[in-house]
Formats: sequence, C-alpha cells, structure tokens
Amino acid sequence: MKRILISGATGGIGGALVRYFFNRGEHVIATGRNRKRLDAFKQELSSAGPGKLTTHVADFASFADVHSLAERLKSDYEDGLDAVIHTAAVFVGKKRYTEDGHELQMQVNHLAPALLSLELLPVLRKRRGRVISTTSELHRKAEMPETPFSESRIYRPLKQYARTKLYNLMFTIALDDRIGENKGMRAFAVHPGLVKTDIGSKETSLRWRLLWRFATRKAIDPGRVVYTYSFLVYEKDTQSALPYFYRTQPRPYSEEARDKAKVERLFEATEAALDVRWDKEN
Ligand SMILES: NC(=O)c1ccc[n+]([C@@H]2O[C@H](COP(=O)([O-])OP(=O)(O)OC[C@H]3O[C@@H](n4cnc5c(N)ncnc54)[C@H](OP(=O)(O)O)[C@@H]3O)[C@@H](O)[C@H]2O)c1
Repeated sequence: MKRILISGATGGIGGALVRYFFNRGEHVIATGRNRKRLDAFKQELSSAGPGKLTTHVADFASFADVHSLAERLKSDYEDGLDAVIHTAAVFVGKKRYTEDGHELQMQVNHLAPALLSLELLPVLRKRRGRVISTTSELHRKAEMPETPFSESRIYRPLKQYARTKLYNLMFTIALDDRIGENKGMRAFAVHPGLVKTDIGSKETSLRWRLLWRFATRKAIDPGRVVYTYSFLVYEKDTQSALPYFYRTQPRPYSEEARDKAKVERLFEATEAALDVRWDKEN
C-alpha cells in the first residue's frame, strides 16, 4: 500500500485523485482547508473500497498551519511517504494578503506547497518518494521579475495566478535537480489541461465567474486527468530529463523556466521567504 498525500483534496482535481488512489487500494492522506468537505469524503469512501483514507485540515494561507501539518505527518509516517501531490490553489479577483504578509495566490499556490514539500523531504527520502505539483500551460504567459516576490503597482489577478504556476514549475525544476541524486526520487510538475472545476468561480466577482464558465464550457472532467499523476507515482524509473508532464508525456517548457540562473534565483528566494534551507542530508 503506497502512502500518498494529496493537498487540495476537496477540489475538482484533488478530489478525483483521492477517489482514484483510494480505489487502487492506496493509503490516501487528504489535506484541505475545510473540515466538513473532508468529512464528506470519509463518509463517501469509508466502506467503498480497498484503500485507506486519513484527513487533515490545514489552511495554506497560514504557514503556522503548514508547519504543524508537516510536524504531524513526519511523526505519523516516520517510515516514509511515497508521494506528495499538490493540487491546492486559489484564484482571486482582488488582491488579498495572508496573515504571513504574502499575496494570497502566491502563498497558497506556491509558497505553502513548497514549504510542505521541503519539510516532508526526510520522510519522502525513506521511500524514494515523488513530489508532484500542479502547474499550468499558463506558465508561458508569466515572467519572473528581478526580485521574484516583488509586486507591481496594479494587481492583475490572472497575471499573478500565471506567475504562481510559473513558480510551481521553476521550483519543481530546481528541486528535481537537487533530489534527483537519490536514485528514484524525483520532483514533477503536471499540466492537467483545461478542467471543469470551480477554481475560477469560487472567490471571484460575477465577471470572472462568467468568464470562467465560458472558458471551461468544453473543458474535460477532473476524472480524466488522474492518469498523468498515476503514471508519475507508479512508474519505477521515470527517465525523462524533463520534469514537466502533460497527458503522461514529458513536455518542453517556457524559455523563462529554462533559464537556469532564474530557476536558482527563484529557489533561493523561496527558501528565504520560508526561512527554510535546503539540506542535502535532511
Ligand atoms: N481547472 C483547470 O483547468 C486547471 C488548469 C491548469 C492547472 N490547474 C491547477 O490544478 C490544481 C487544482 O485546481 P482545480 O481546478 O481542481 O481547482 P479547485 O477545485 O478550486 O481545487 C483547489 C483546491 O485548493 C484548495 N484551497 C484553496 N485555498 C486553499 C487554502 N487557503 N488552503 C488549503 N487549500 C486551499 C481548495 O479548497 P476548497 O475546496 O476549500 O475551496 C481545493 O481543494 C491547481 O493547482 C490549479 O492551479 C487547474
């Protein structure tokens, strides 16, 4: 039985992944910000299949929550985790800040998942585990400024969201470079395609909700994107030098993400923002 942590488990793609891995008989550790929605999963799956489901509440808009989740997981699963799959993310129409002083999309989509991944490396290492993040083709529309977390005067929600997806990918590239030394251990980023979920309509104005509904009228159902994640969890030696995947295939990424100096700068700025240092031995 593999142990697979899924963040954003109450969402469209996260929920599909919880059901998929549970039905394959795995131990799914589902995290979300909403206890009621996590409990609904427990009710739905408790007697339904061969898997095991454990749930944890953690708000990614709070580093304190992420730290305590990581501590709990490190003590509960001392003998290792096989995969951490991140799908937690938010899209907001107006600028908001977290209690930690970061712009909300940047913290929930990039900084908090990066923090959890870095903190869980010691337990992932025990099973040559994989860190799988969810990025987007939208990363191609984004650039990294000289100072990665600097903010422009005018807040453009979609531009900011795209930047967080670029950072998901760049962070994955840098992390994969570091953990790849431990044979079998890898970091990957998945583009799921355009998927029918509520991400564009949950925390936005009517205008964004209508735009999202129009944009996703021909989008695919979340259940159809699980195969890429499944491939990355089960494939023993994923030889691809590229850590970016779409429909189970490696895919080239934007020029911005190919810039090694920028990728390193993003990794170091992320460490500094999180007050965490990459440690080869840890
Ligand atoms: N849908 C697409 O077309 C598409 C395309 C490319 C990439 N993606 C990426 O796919 C991933 C999954 O998105 P989705 O489309 O499945 O959206 P979704 O249904 O909105 O799922 C997002 C998940 O993140 C959770 N979340 C939001 N804010 C949080 C917070 N502060 N703390 C903890 N969890 C939080 C949500 O919790 P609640 O259930 O409580 O809201 C939900 O579980 C995201 O990384 C997204 O960027 C999606």
